[in-house]
Amino acid sequence: MRAYTAIDFGTSNSAVCVGCGAHAALIALEQGRDTLPTAVFYNADEQSTVFGRQAIGEYAAGYAGRLMRSLKSLLGSELLDDTTLINGKAVAYRDIIAAFLRHLWRAAQAQNPRAVEHLVLGRPVRFVDDSDERDRLAETTLAAIARDAGFADVHFQYEPIAAAMDYERQLDREALVLVADIGGGTSDFSLIRLGPQRARHDDRSADVLASGGLHIAGTDFDQQLSLAAAMPLLGLGHAGESGKPVPSHVYFELATWHRINFLYTPRALSEAQTLRPFFADSALHERLMRVLREREGHRIAAAVEDAKVAVADGGSAPLDLAFIEAGLRAEVSAADLQRAIATAVARIVDAARRTVAAAGVGAAAIDAVYFTGGSTGLRGLRDALGAAFPGSALVGGDKFASVARGLGVCAARLFG
Ligand SMILES: Nc1ncnc2c1ncn2[C@@H]1O[C@H](COP(=O)(O)OP(=O)(O)OP(=O)(O)O)[C@@H](O)[C@H]1O
Ligand SMILES: [Mg+2]
Repeated sequence: MRAYTAIDFGTSNSAVCVGCGAHAALIALEQGRDTLPTAVFYNADEQSTVFGRQAIGEYAAGYAGRLMRSLKSLLGSELLDDTTLINGKAVAYRDIIAAFLRHLWRAAQAQNPRAVEHLVLGRPVRFVDDSDERDRLAETTLAAIARDAGFADVHFQYEPIAAAMDYERQLDREALVLVADIGGGTSDFSLIRLGPQRARHDDRSADVLASGGLHIAGTDFDQQLSLAAAMPLLGLGHAGESGKPVPSHVYFELATWHRINFLYTPRALSEAQTLRPFFADSALHERLMRVLREREGHRIAAAVEDAKVAVADGGSAPLDLAFIEAGLRAEVSAADLQRAIATAVARIVDAARRTVAAAGVGAAAIDAVYFTGGSTGLRGLRDALGAAFPGSALVGGDKFASVARGLGVCAARLFG
């Protein structure tokens, strides 16, 4: 019997299944939890590299160092071949991803030393929306990084197809299902025929009627909410004495998880300093500079994300920025969030429609929409997708582990 590993390398969270023969199971990655935030912290005080909740915890505790999040967003971007200065040393971005995958490799290896010989790695339907060539390059690069991390034999599966394989285990009859996996970095769809009879077949390619997706998801919602609710407190939308608005570039960077670190270079800091004449209210500029000098960007992004999750199902919640200045806060309502992300949500619904249209199937033929991925916690998004496919049942899956479990099913079929 062969052993194998399956990894859902997510933009926000990752999970790992280890299996032998037909049986695969999620493994504990940190403090008994089976999902791990996709985060790396290079701690300068301790000269150490830590991962997951520990990485976020040490950053939040105020250790000097560098926090890296949204690593997957680097795949397919021109940044991947660059290096970045971390605690005085030039480190290649791809080596940061390799360090994270190596951490998962160690966890799988500890579970079963033979399991790391074969890997099934999830991938979004699209790493890159507008270029097939760069999209292919992203997969090839991720495979090479996984091999650097220690996995010899690397296969890929689309994340929504993996989620479908997980959902299929609970079906007792055949169904045409649209899987909607709305995560941190991408929204992915597969239209697939599922059922207990079909589950026995090795080759499922004929059952997958279409797959599609786009590079818009939870981190973009964070960005939009940050621009609407947090950045105005730092000067976005304000004007100088002449009435000319403050340039917005710095706010876009500060609102985008994987670009925050760029604002902390000496050059970016001096550029931000030169914005001073654009501010009629100098206190706002000083506040912005304090955030950049004290490297509070990830903390703001995390506070925005917390507020988003708090109002995802309705109601309102405080966006507390007291760590910047005593009393600095805003109130965020579900309606504010809906407004901020309306364009993004419309594009996601459109991608779902196009996936179904590509299969030549009418919306009414779909039996169920299966939701997975953290962002399906947003009621407005579920409602909008539900409205696009009236008559289909809306089924909520395990938001954070369905893809990894399904990748385990795929790996068991390939290697078990
Ligand atoms: N209850 C919730 N409501 C809305 N959004 C949520 C909720 N819980 C988590 N999220 C968001 O879900 C996203 C993470 O979801 P998930 O872990 O499925 O993504 P991922 O698998 O890491 O990303 P991807 O699959 O796109 O690479 C984050 O943007 C997070 O803010
Ligand atoms: Mg995911």
